[in-house]
Order: sequence, then C-alpha cells, then structure tokens
Amino acid sequence: MTTTAAPPVGHTAIEPGILYLGTPVVLISTTNADGSANLAPMSSAFWLGWRGILGLDGTSRTTENLLRTGECVLNLPSADQADAVDRLALTTGADPVPQRKQHRGYRHLAEKFARAGLTPVPSDVVSAPRAAECPVAMEAVVEASHGIGRGNASCFEVRVVRVWVHDDIRTPGSANRIDPDRWRPLIMSFQRFYGLGAQLRPSRLADIPEDEYRTPDIERART
Ligand SMILES: Cc1cc2nc3c(=O)[nH]c(=O)nc-3n(C[C@H](O)[C@H](O)[C@H](O)COP(=O)(O)O)c2cc1C
Repeated sequence: MTTTAAPPVGHTAIEPGILYLGTPVVLISTTNADGSANLAPMSSAFWLGWRGILGLDGTSRTTENLLRTGECVLNLPSADQADAVDRLALTTGADPVPQRKQHRGYRHLAEKFARAGLTPVPSDVVSAPRAAECPVAMEAVVEASHGIGRGNASCFEVRVVRVWVHDDIRTPGSANRIDPDRWRPLIMSFQRFYGLGAQLRPSRLADIPEDEYRTPDIERART
C-alpha cells in the first residue's frame, strides 16, 4: 500500500487592501483652533517605553490639531466600550469634510464627546480633555512627525507625560502596575471589533521585572 505525503504547510501570496492585523483602539482627544475638543477613533498605534507611535490620515482634524498644538490625550476604551467607539465611526471634526472621506460616507461632527456618550474632564498637563469613562488615558506631547508614503498620512511620535488609569484595572498591592487580567482592551482587526481572550500560558519574558523597562521619560514627566 502506498501513502501520499501530506503537502508541506505553505504560504500563498495575497494582496489585501488593508493590513490591519489587530491593534488596540485609541480615542485621541485634541484641541481645535477655537478651543473646543475633538475626539477621534484610531488604531494604528503602538508603544515603546513612554512613547507612542501613531499613524493618522493627513486630512483628519486630529492631524491638524496635533501639528498645531503638539498635544493630545490617548484614551483607551475597554472591549465593552465598542458601542461608544462605533458612534464616532465615519465622522470627522474637519469642516468641510475632505473629498476622499465624503466618498466614503463620512460626515462632519463637532460634538464628538457627546455623540460617543463620553465625559470630557480636564487634563493635568495638556489642553485636550480626558475621556472619564476610558480605563486608560495618557496625556502626551508630540516629539516628531513625518509623512508616510506619498504624504497622505502622517506618523507621530508622542511622549507620554501623564498616565491615568481606573483603579479597577490596577494590580492589587502595587503602586504602578496595570493587571492584564483586569485590563481588557478593545481591539480592531480588519475593521471589526474584538476583545482579548484569557492568558494562554506564562511568558518567559515576564522573568524581566517591569521596572527594568523604566525610561528617563518617566522622571521627565514629573517636571
Ligand atoms: C475603530 C477605528 C479605527 C480607526 N483607525 C484609524 C487609524 O489608525 N488611523 C486613521 O487615520 N484613521 C483611523 N480611523 C478613521 C478615523 O477615525 C477618521 O479618519 C476620522 O475622520 C478622524 O477624525 P477627525 O477628522 O475628527 O480627526 C479609524 C476609525 C475607527 C472607527
């Protein structure tokens, strides 16, 4: 009897329209030129130390505000706040609505906090307000920016200057730690909302104490 060998596991080259493979949702609050607040959902974000790297459409009101004021708050909604985020989908603080966004069904909206059902509260360091209901809110200042691709988008490096968290996501008995079993971020993957599952197994990386990652930015944020 002859047996046929199983084909090797392989890849297929494909050309997806987007490469949004799963990142946390951030609601960025910024200050408009007239002093009012803007709030915009985004998810092209990651963190290195107390720095955040943000990818934003060049025509968005948030990009304009970041370039003008150099400040923002990065509000992180939890998985059970997907409804609030979705109420801000397809809206822009920009008026008139940029043409490319008009074609995609976007409309202008000035009162973003009210539309999301979130409460703006004053920040400590920056002019933009925090969203009280988001379990994590990080005040930040822009350190650098540059155009991406043909300049249709911008990449911002922001330095976090204050980290606010709800007490119910903190690790009991510790002053400065967030408990990943309690913090349940909202994840966007290919334009759909997801939450995280339970921890899969202990990670060997966790042999390194979190304090070893502290950077001078933390000390700098106190002054
Ligand atoms: C869940 C979600 C994630 C998004 N992620 C991004 C993103 O990473 N970058 C981006 O430029 N726009 C993203 N958008 C679209 C922006 O919200 C959109 O550009 C919006 O008009 C920005 O608002 P603003 O013009 O008031 O700044 C996302 C929208 C949603 C609903």
